[in-house]
Amino acid sequence: MVAKLGDDAKLPLAVYGNVPRHVAIIMDGNGRWAKRRLLPRQAGHVSGIAALRNTVAAARDLGISYLTVYAFSTENWQRPQSEVSALMGLFRRFFHADMKRLQKENVRVRFIGRRENLDSDIASLVVQAEQMTEMNSGLNLTVAFNYGAREELMRAAQALASDAANGRIDPATISEKDFSDRLQTGGFPDVDLVIRPGGEKRISNFLLWQAAYAEFVFVEALWPDFGKEHLEEALKEYASRQRRFGRLAPEDTAAGNPPDHGVPSQRTALS
Ligand code: IPE
Ligand code: IPE
Ligand code: MG
Repeated sequence: MVAKLGDDAKLPLAVYGNVPRHVAIIMDGNGRWAKRRLLPRQAGHVSGIAALRNTVAAARDLGISYLTVYAFSTENWQRPQSEVSALMGLFRRFFHADMKRLQKENVRVRFIGRRENLDSDIASLVVQAEQMTEMNSGLNLTVAFNYGAREELMRAAQALASDAANGRIDPATISEKDFSDRLQTGGFPDVDLVIRPGGEKRISNFLLWQAAYAEFVFVEALWPDFGKEHLEEALKEYASRQRRFGRLAPEDTAAGNPPDHGVPSQRTALS
């Protein structure tokens, strides 16, 4: 019998197929979840935290190395002040309730996003969480908070421009690596899989550079209902995809299986 995802959480997922190294999740649908239950939107955000806890635990079980979650975007400031304050309050609560456990579980916590306009206590919590877990070698959990990909890209461009102006880098030699090293995710592997619950099919200014060749899985379930089964489903879907990165599929390039042009390809004729 072929082992199926989830048959035994203790088996390394590699047994089942191709595990993405870096999974990014757009945690969407909290407001609609609450609305369906005639609850205030904030109740949806509270349940969203529980979904985050479950998903982090599942990601560890399933052998994912990097999990990056979108918690608050630079565009989310445009929501009513009451909702923004509730989200900031929840962030504080999450930190106080979860950081000790995450530290014990060997999770390395990092934040990406703009820190300058955060309340000063939140900015300190961010630094504290990063320092507290910086020696951890387990799951890399990155929280995108007050994050916008365009802003991140713009800042990388500013950093490069300033290095060029100071003579530290020659503009003619700037490489993709020079650019990606200046993103807040510098040193992370590229995103392999983006999962968006909540039914919307857009990227909403998340990891535009890092997800350039990611696979996308859109899930109808709203984020507060998201759990291990949804993550497993998404990984199964990922494992069934063929990532070609612009090349031909291996079955089309294998020796003895030349492209079907009816005549020998130029390459075959010359070699
Ligand atoms: C995602 O849920 C949480 C944040 C954006 C902070 P939403 O609040 O966007 O929920 P919907 O999309 O309105 O249902
Ligand atoms: C994306 O969700 C941002 C987060 C999940 C933090 P939004 O609900 O803000 O995205 P849009 O407005 O539907 O694009
Ligand atoms: Mg939304």
